[in-house]
Amino acid sequence: MPLGYFGALRLLHNTFRNHPPGQRVHILGRFFTAPFMRTLDVIPVGSRVLDIGSGHGTYPRLIAEERAREVIAVDPDIRKMLTAFKHPKVRFVCGFDDCIRGEFDVIVIYDVIYRLPPEERDKLFKRIYDRVRPGGLFILKDLDPSNRLKWTWSRIQESISDRFLGLTIGEGFFMDTREQIAERFRKAGFVKFEWKRVDFGYPHPHVIYTGRKE
Ligand SMILES: C[S@@+](CC[C@H](N)C(=O)[O-])C[C@H]1O[C@@H](n2cnc3c(N)ncnc32)[C@H](O)[C@@H]1O
Repeated sequence: MPLGYFGALRLLHNTFRNHPPGQRVHILGRFFTAPFMRTLDVIPVGSRVLDIGSGHGTYPRLIAEERAREVIAVDPDIRKMLTAFKHPKVRFVCGFDDCIRGEFDVIVIYDVIYRLPPEERDKLFKRIYDRVRPGGLFILKDLDPSNRLKWTWSRIQESISDRFLGLTIGEGFFMDTREQIAERFRKAGFVKFEWKRVDFGYPHPHVIYTGRKE
């Protein structure tokens, strides 16, 4: 049964109730500002998922509840991995994507690639292509710089967060346009590229991209 917004809040409260207060505020802030609930049904039910740059694991926890059979959540930030929650369907790995082996039905990257210099992205997308099983899916959640107002706000907010809070490792704020993302998916080998705005009512220009491996 679908969780619904308040069901998800309850689930996350129970999942993260023993995390340090600072992390709980961060997790709650992410939940209110990122469209997690609008990006759940893109995950096929029963799939094995790799989430690259999973952070504290909000998205893995939600998809494990509603859709995924198993989620491998990988993130290089040891602060988040040390407090990682325990769940039979979610396994956390501290590191970068290249420490993961095997094939996945779905690979997700949720608000991460803005930290990667543009020249690293094609290499990452190619590694992802190699790890998606034939017929599987690559899902990228990103921000769309064509919405100037929301994009400027996102940029200001991230610089403040970087400067005063240091919540996310890495540096920089590099955004690809929708056309650049489409080209990167194509170059990596993905077909049936699609994109959808999921930002209605949010201050940030959220967009979700999907591509399939044939
Ligand atoms: C804005 S957070 C998003 C976290 C999570 N995906 C979410 O939606 O809540 C960005 C995450 O990317 C991770 N990250 C930064 N550079 C990375 C890289 N090169 N590879 C994988 N993850 C990275 C950070 O540690 C951080 O947890």
